[in-house]
Amino acid sequence: MRTKIVAGNWKMNKTARETEILLNELSAKLPDTDAEVMVAPTFVNLTDAVRQLESSAIQVVAQNMHFADNGAYTGEIAADMLLDIEVDTVILGHSERRAYFHETDELLAKKVKQAIEKNMRVIFCFGEELNDRKAGKHFDVVAKQLKNGLFDLPESAWAQIVLAYEPVWAIGTGETASPEQAQEMHAYIRKIVSDAYTNSIAQKVSILYGGSVKPGNAAEIFSKPDVDGGLIGGASLVGDDFMAIVKAIG
Ligand code: 13P
Repeated sequence: MRTKIVAGNWKMNKTARETEILLNELSAKLPDTDAEVMVAPTFVNLTDAVRQLESSAIQVVAQNMHFADNGAYTGEIAADMLLDIEVDTVILGHSERRAYFHETDELLAKKVKQAIEKNMRVIFCFGEELNDRKAGKHFDVVAKQLKNGLFDLPESAWAQIVLAYEPVWAIGTGETASPEQAQEMHAYIRKIVSDAYTNSIAQKVSILYGGSVKPGNAAEIFSKPDVDGGLIGGASLVGDDFMAIVKAIG
């Protein structure tokens, strides 16, 4: 059985007070679930969020981090700073980081390596743009992102990796991949991980889908055999919606 995960990526949303209010609501309403439930508030609110959720099953994760141990990198956050506040999971490679902050596959490979060396868990995001899909290049684009970002890792690192397929055309657009499109890509992802490593690694890695997951479509997407959960943007900012998505995974 693979680990099921529902993670809320809050992106650049919620002040400290708003974070506190939403986390109170989420801990009060968290349903019984086999899935790991995670939230990724913005950096400045991580410490408070960890404290607030100390006795909750909801985990606090980071949206990004730097590849270096420390040093002259103004505005950046190091792995040890996250670990120091008991955040041991980080989202890397989100398409917004790739598009707006020019994070390349090569840079991401360095970030992933650092997180693995620090014994952190990585939620590694990737996905094609609309033009890629229209041109029938979506499988190649995804294969390249995975190869460049992850396939230099040793086999042992894969216990710390979670994959998140997020087609860029489905993020924040209200347009989701159909459950069939998600399943098709997730099965392909598992195949290329199997080819690059082993079938056992491919069968164990959790692959999340992200892109306009809502209470109304979550159950159908999660019902697909290679979809192990979701990375949720907009709907994770509304307590009842996020909890409905957690319920949908069972
Ligand atoms: P939306 O759910 O708002 O489409 O965002 C998905 C996402 O980017 C999660 O990381």
